[in-house]
Amino acid sequence: MRPLVDRSASVEEAASVLRRGELVILPTETVYGLAADAANPQAVARIYEAKGRPSFNPLIAHVATLQAADRLARLEGPARRLADAFWPGPLTLVARVRDASAVCDLARAGLDTVAIRVPAHPLACAVIATFGGAVAAPSANRSGRPSPTTFQDAIEETGRASGAAIDGGACAVGLESSVVSVLDGAVRLLRPGGVTREALEAVVGPLDSAGNDAHRSPGRLALHYAPNAPVRLNVTAPGEDEAYLAFADAAMGARVFNLSPSGDLREAAANLFAYLRAADRTRPRAIAVAPIPDRGLGEAINDRLRRAAGFVG
Ligand code: TXA
Ligand code: MG
Repeated sequence: MRPLVDRSASVEEAASVLRRGELVILPTETVYGLAADAANPQAVARIYEAKGRPSFNPLIAHVATLQAADRLARLEGPARRLADAFWPGPLTLVARVRDASAVCDLARAGLDTVAIRVPAHPLACAVIATFGGAVAAPSANRSGRPSPTTFQDAIEETGRASGAAIDGGACAVGLESSVVSVLDGAVRLLRPGGVTREALEAVVGPLDSAGNDAHRSPGRLALHYAPNAPVRLNVTAPGEDEAYLAFADAAMGARVFNLSPSGDLREAAANLFAYLRAADRTRPRAIAVAPIPDRGLGEAINDRLRRAAGFVG
């Protein structure tokens, strides 16, 4: 095993590692990604291999500019308005693919649609711009584990599979992007995330219902974010042998991790995955979680928590 520090790379090095068809651990404002050349099916296959994914879920193609996104897919009407409002930022748009060679079939899981995002992280954008093509990047965790929101967590998850890694510090948002499809005139929220439903609706009006499973994000496994310990939700009085993810009200105890003492959902989102991991490291009988309000970013936080607890979302 190579020493982990060996993988710390410059933007130039990371771009050339991508060109060679190898993987790069890439910081974004949402979570750390495990990045590969989206046009190269062998490189994309390494992502699935490194994550141990049970199936080939479609991946997000990351680009540095709206112009580059527009070359991959037709972004018109509501898609264009959402892109203008939230890019660069924690929004992924699913639209009909325009240039199918820029994002290979394997990255799209054979669909005729493509998921695109312009991340708002200077290092991510620098690597993508220097590389020059679209970069496929799921969260850098192994399949079924919480998404890494710090460099150290990303290295622990998939560092061994990567040819380079970029340290961008802690992720500011801490939750994955919201995934919104704009297809056949319908705008659907497939995965709640860093941009709230309220913010999306302020730009495009009421969203269409996410509909049945055929419309849902195909990569959303029930156990997507599970730590090792079982997770119990909506707990106001944790047991002595449990770790506790608190919210708002001060709670005392050695294994208490308060997502936001001031009750700020943005702060709670940024801390969520890191605190799930920290709670898990205390080897508790279970991780109890305080009730989290379901408004704003709370919708995405509760979605991830239900998955961590093993409930089908
Ligand atoms: O914040 C994020 O989105 C992070 C960072 C690294 O950018 N990436 C991320 O990627 O969360 P991943 O692979 O873990 O999640 C991609 C999501 C999955 O739920 C997948 O099903 C959905 O996007 N998706 C991708 N392509 C799709 C498509 N063509 N149609 C519907 N959903 C799609
Ligand atoms: Mg993921």
